[in-house]
Amino acid sequence: MQGKAENHFDYTLMAPGPVNLHPKVREILAHPMIHHRTPEFDKILAQALKRLKIVFQTEQPVYALSSTGSGGMEVLLVNTLSPGDSILVVNSGKFGERWAEMARTFGVQVDELKITWGQAVTPEHIAEKLKTKTYHAVLTQACETSTGVLHPIQKLGAVIKNYQHTLFLVDGITALGAVPLPMDEWSIDGLVGGSQKAFMLPTGMSFVSFSKKAHARFEHAKIPKFYFDIRKEIAANAKGETFFSSNVSLIKALNYVLAEIESAGLAPLFKTIQRRADFVAYLMETLGLSSYAAVKSASLTAVALPNSTDGQKLRELMEVDFNLTVMGGQDQAKGKIIRIGHMGYIQDKDQMHLATALYHSLQKLNMTPSISFIDFQTQMKNWLAQN
Ligand SMILES: Cc1ncc(COP(=O)(O)O)c(C=O)c1O
Repeated sequence: MQGKAENHFDYTLMAPGPVNLHPKVREILAHPMIHHRTPEFDKILAQALKRLKIVFQTEQPVYALSSTGSGGMEVLLVNTLSPGDSILVVNSGKFGERWAEMARTFGVQVDELKITWGQAVTPEHIAEKLKTKTYHAVLTQACETSTGVLHPIQKLGAVIKNYQHTLFLVDGITALGAVPLPMDEWSIDGLVGGSQKAFMLPTGMSFVSFSKKAHARFEHAKIPKFYFDIRKEIAANAKGETFFSSNVSLIKALNYVLAEIESAGLAPLFKTIQRRADFVAYLMETLGLSSYAAVKSASLTAVALPNSTDGQKLRELMEVDFNLTVMGGQDQAKGKIIRIGHMGYIQDKDQMHLATALYHSLQKLNMTPSISFIDFQTQMKNWLAQN
């Protein structure tokens, strides 16, 4: 962190997670602690677990775990697979790579379907692979955060559901709550979300759900596990509790966010996030920049930069001069892109701040936009007023 983030009142976080917190969430997080084995907390937990189903769009139970998103990814693996099982992992960036590595750690045989960074996997890719071998599961990100790509989950689900012995496990960490991902309708067998994304909370919780087909695997899955044995959580939830100590503050804040989603519906949330992505698309077009992702997710935009512009320097300048954080690229995309998040609590004034920061920082790096700042600012304001 090179900026002035300690001055949190005018700091803007526009990473693809963690995200700016809703003021009400910040207030809830400052409440005095209550014990998790109390009727007061039991009520909150029951509501939150029920409301999570709205975001997952499932009839199945959703479990709320004290772990980051990667812990939730591990939960999907260890509860459905055994050492020696064969799986197919879509590796289209950093997080696909992580899931493959995680599975190998547990002795699972991994075939990787490597996709060029910035591209999406196709249903044909998967269909071809499934014809050649029996896989116990196919794993993919819904949105690969390192490239900003959205994969065609609905179409993949339609292919995989025809294979009785194959589960479809989806990392929805940067997708759930930001783009439609109806678990039941799209035949997803295991789905994981993370608190620091569209759930608008701090990092520290993952949310997971399993289809009936996946549930049937629990008793046969031989990967050793203790903390992440979902059967413990199922038994505890049946008694209205979590198995381990509950993440009281985050679950209270989660329940607030979910109550808001319940009353407004999911569609307005998707629309709000899409509007932010559309604004950034307009901003890029105006500045002569393009998308790194061939198929863009509404949850973030990966902006491709000209060779002459160093993305790391650009994001540093935005942070130092404007107290605004966006992310750079990782590995092969390092220096070549910046990634702007559209989830969390972002207002139009933050979007204007982003536009200003990007314009001036590009200028400082000698990529002078062809439009004057005054005209640029007017166009951005007009877009926000009209859309
Ligand atoms: C798609 C995706 N998967 C997994 C993760 C890992 O989540 P965590 O850092 O919460 O463990 C992230 C984090 O950004 C992500 O974006």
